[in-house]
Amino acid sequence: MQQTVYLNDQFMPLEQAKISPLDRGFLFGDGVYEVIPSYSGKFVGFDLHIERLKRSLAAIKIELNWTTDKWRSIAERLLEENGSGNLSVYIHVSRGADVKRAHAYKTFNSPTVFALTTEIPAPKVANIDKVEGLSVVTQEDIRWQRCDVKSTALLGNIMHFQHAYDQGVAETILYNKDRQVTEASTSNVFVIKNNCITTPPLDSQLLPGVTRHIVLDIIRSKTQYEVGEEIVTFDDLKQADEVWLTSASKEVAPVTLIDGDPVADGKVGGLWLAIMSLFEQHKFDA
Ligand code: PDD
Repeated sequence: MQQTVYLNDQFMPLEQAKISPLDRGFLFGDGVYEVIPSYSGKFVGFDLHIERLKRSLAAIKIELNWTTDKWRSIAERLLEENGSGNLSVYIHVSRGADVKRAHAYKTFNSPTVFALTTEIPAPKVANIDKVEGLSVVTQEDIRWQRCDVKSTALLGNIMHFQHAYDQGVAETILYNKDRQVTEASTSNVFVIKNNCITTPPLDSQLLPGVTRHIVLDIIRSKTQYEVGEEIVTFDDLKQADEVWLTSASKEVAPVTLIDGDPVADGKVGGLWLAIMSLFEQHKFDA
């Protein structure tokens, strides 16, 4: 099926979408993005994603004061045009095409806005008996110091993700110089010990994941489990009863192997099953 994308106020076939080689997104990675999941035409956390997009734009001083409704109408039209299955909408805003390559942008502000859909896996709950845990590896985090901004400049993340991919595993979990877990190359990390659920606190070392936010909300409002946003050490990770990764496309994914060692007994954990089931029931409420 021909894919329809959005570029600068127009919907068009993917093949017709062209940008200038002087676009600062292309030259410098000078832009920000979002990935918003949808299932059968319904978005998960749409407003939260757009709020984060607005924060990212403000952080790098791109002026684009579109309302959430405007973003929603573009995203909904893309879903309609592309079949409304299980699709994520990727939104990319760069600072736009200047007349020359120059680091400084002075007052230049002519954003390029691009959006497209990508198929994502069906919700796990439909197939919960068949869910297998993920195998992951670990690495010291080499990325920049503003990982709270969802920048399109993803070279560090790509190097970390490729490190996992080359070994045939799903992700690389990252830790800082103090051996504290930050996040993973494309997802946030939760660690469970003695039924206590912990995820690293928000700061500039990690992305404030929308899925992380929804999962925390669900645990706090629908369960009695103890939950904290606290420092997670590398040893905590290695000694955990369960480890989960969260992201728009992974939802909540259980990790059963880290650096070749099983997490606890190496089986998908009971707490994961409980929280994942609640997530599937309540994810559209956010
Ligand atoms: N990745 N941390 C990083 C570094 C990420 O790239 C992502 C998302 C997350 C999870 O955020 P959220 O729950 O809002 O998806 C955490 C997206 C899906 C991507 O880059 O494709």
